[in-house]
Amino acid sequence: MKALILSGGTGSRLRPLTYTGAKQLIPVANKPILFYAIEAIRDAGIDEIGIIVGDTREEVKRAVGDGSLWGVKVTYIEQDAPRGLAHAVKISADFIGDDDFLMFLGDNLVRDGVSAFANQFRTNRPNSLILLSRVPDPQRFGVAELTNGRVVRLIEKPQVPPSDLALVGVYLFDKNIFTAVNAIKPSWRNELEITDAIQYLVDHGHVVDSHVIDGWWKDTGKPEDVLEANRMMLEYIETDICGTVDADSQIFGRAVIDADVEIINSVIRGPVVIAKGARIVDSYIGPFTAISERVQVLGSEVENSILLQGTVIAQIPTRIDSSLIGKNVRISRIKERPKALNFVLGDNSRADVQ
Ligand code: G1P
Repeated sequence: MKALILSGGTGSRLRPLTYTGAKQLIPVANKPILFYAIEAIRDAGIDEIGIIVGDTREEVKRAVGDGSLWGVKVTYIEQDAPRGLAHAVKISADFIGDDDFLMFLGDNLVRDGVSAFANQFRTNRPNSLILLSRVPDPQRFGVAELTNGRVVRLIEKPQVPPSDLALVGVYLFDKNIFTAVNAIKPSWRNELEITDAIQYLVDHGHVVDSHVIDGWWKDTGKPEDVLEANRMMLEYIETDICGTVDADSQIFGRAVIDADVEIINSVIRGPVVIAKGARIVDSYIGPFTAISERVQVLGSEVENSILLQGTVIAQIPTRIDSSLIGKNVRISRIKERPKALNFVLGDNSRADVQ
């Protein structure tokens, strides 16, 4: 069995972060979302992975390399534009050959991994196995309609969903999917939809099994989703303190503090991860916060947030909460009059003040 990871797309709902980086490389609990997919695939016993890349190809290639970090072999497959998930399958025909494969959307996180599903596919040998999850907002997803447990209909982003069973971004296929992706036509959003390809399999008498997952799963399409994923993954950390924590600081709960981190006169309440080169001075870092390399938090309070590389938060009088802050951002307090908020924000930024 091989695997395909989709790591193209524009990430429009995660702007402005995605103007300068791939959405799949945004870190949760200080690890890029894409790396969780690679690990899940490796743990399912698959060591040949094709990664579909688009505009952000260089950044993805720099981060993942040839896969040897994980003991897998990575092949990059170029998609000229985001033309749909079924289009990604279509252009992977040479890489997949006659093998079965697992397709994983690179912005999805499945807490319990995918080994059980890969094994279910290997044992039962259907033509396709799709994963489903009950969601409160099915109109945001592909939705499945089941009759006696069998998939009878799949609809992409329906206005009136026939069920609350969303398609999770993990699919298993045998080679029949290539006939399907070559037969379907682009949808209203001008993409070749994988839901239409799977519907083709159903309509042509192929066996499409489904598995409703009960573990946690997230499509990290929006900032709120990334923060929720961060909270979920931080639940799993184990305390590991390598950096310097001075005698005036206190650490409560679980914290990962990398080497070359300085914590001075501060309170850290876990779960929290702080990457190398960060400095926390006269500050409070509250639960569910992930701090990337070289961030500085000075005289401020931050919780339930993600701060990316090189960002500086200095002397902010109000606690920063539920925030996703990009690289090299500076948020600081100025003393001069008039008393005013002073912004230099990129396109599609969001600043909520009280
Ligand atoms: C895609 C699929 C959809 C699926 C979702 C899961 O949607 O088209 O069927 O439910 O991923 O993340 P997209 O994220 O491209 O809008």
